[in-house]
Amino acid sequence: MTIIRDQQKRIYIDHAATTPPDPVVIDAMLPYFTQYWQNPSSIYVEAQATRKAIDQSRNKIADLIGAQPNEIIFTSGGTESNTLALRGVIAASQIPDKHIISSAAEHHAILDTLEQIELENLADVSILQVDRLGKINPSDVKKSIKNNTVLVTIMHANNEVGTVNDIAKIAHAIREVNPKTLFHTDAVQSMAHLGANIRELDVDLLTFTGHKMYGPRGAGCLYVRNGTPLQAQILGGGQEERRRAGTEDTAAIVGLAKALELTIERREADIAHEQKLQNLLLSKLPMSIPFSGATGSLKNTERLPGHASFVIGFVEGESILVALDLAGFAASSGSACTTGSIEPSHVLLGMGIPEDLARGSLRFSFGRNNSEKDVHDLLKTLPGIVQKLRSLSPLNNASLPPDWDEWLRN
Ligand SMILES: Cc1ncc(COP(=O)(O)O)c(C=O)c1O
Repeated sequence: MTIIRDQQKRIYIDHAATTPPDPVVIDAMLPYFTQYWQNPSSIYVEAQATRKAIDQSRNKIADLIGAQPNEIIFTSGGTESNTLALRGVIAASQIPDKHIISSAAEHHAILDTLEQIELENLADVSILQVDRLGKINPSDVKKSIKNNTVLVTIMHANNEVGTVNDIAKIAHAIREVNPKTLFHTDAVQSMAHLGANIRELDVDLLTFTGHKMYGPRGAGCLYVRNGTPLQAQILGGGQEERRRAGTEDTAAIVGLAKALELTIERREADIAHEQKLQNLLLSKLPMSIPFSGATGSLKNTERLPGHASFVIGFVEGESILVALDLAGFAASSGSACTTGSIEPSHVLLGMGIPEDLARGSLRFSFGRNNSEKDVHDLLKTLPGIVQKLRSLSPLNNASLPPDWDEWLRN
């Protein structure tokens, strides 16, 4: 077990991996551990209180995103919601020779599920390339839609480079070509910052999760537009109107609804604060470290608030993270789920970043509790770490393609 000494000041800049639960959220959840822990499907009075809390949470979430209560399915998180969306739509579709469209920058919860769907011969999958910022071009989606395209799944915002896709425009492109094609978006990263007005986004299915917005882990939601055929993937007790079986986690559901409510209340202030820190780091880091550059878009309108990602030449991102950890900073190289793997990120490769450069990826994601001082402390610490690691590293520009530094002039 690793013990973090109390006197060591830790700076957490990995909010895209997960966020600390808000004390108000924890307070809202506590009675459902201590007092109202009964099974919501039981008939006695305490159980009815848990059922009521679930219904109220469902109504609240529906209200906050512009949906109907029966369009909300509670799940265990983003991964399960994505799986239910993809597999549930494919299983319910009557179309022979089904086709799905997605993008090269999706989270593994989407890409690995699609790979398995293909292996099981359930559908053909087309993966669209993203541009150098990690963005999907709506006209590429439009061109790829066929008569048998059952589903398009494109993420709202990317977890590694923070790039935001124009979901409403993609929806419009899909509807123009094939109104029968369903559209799902993974809004796990965007929900806290951009929110989701279901009607404006015009999606049929949307995934979000509690732990990226100061709520509990293990609490997620899949919005499913009324009338969308969907087959349950977990069978049993018939909960969630027979779309997702299993005794509901009342505390998690209450926490999810509270977290979303608070996030919306605080959004304006959060965004202003997070963009200030993000912009500071995005502008200063490449100037303080030679052969480094930002990945993704530098425009606030195209990037998740609080998100700053980089590639650092001639050094492994993972080595930098270990050194940063020792110096008191908790950060990431990109997706938390691939941390620990020595493979360069599929997202960065999909954006065309040379493989050796992609190995030096770093992601810093700021939240409510960060300050400008955290950014300055990072900027004081990181250049020395990089310099030291470079002096030990076998990587150098000989292994890179001739135009590699194009990427550092973002
Ligand atoms: C874009 C995206 N989709 C899905 C997930 C998986 O969500 P969860 O951890 O709630 O299963 C993540 C988690 O990092 C993510 O960033």
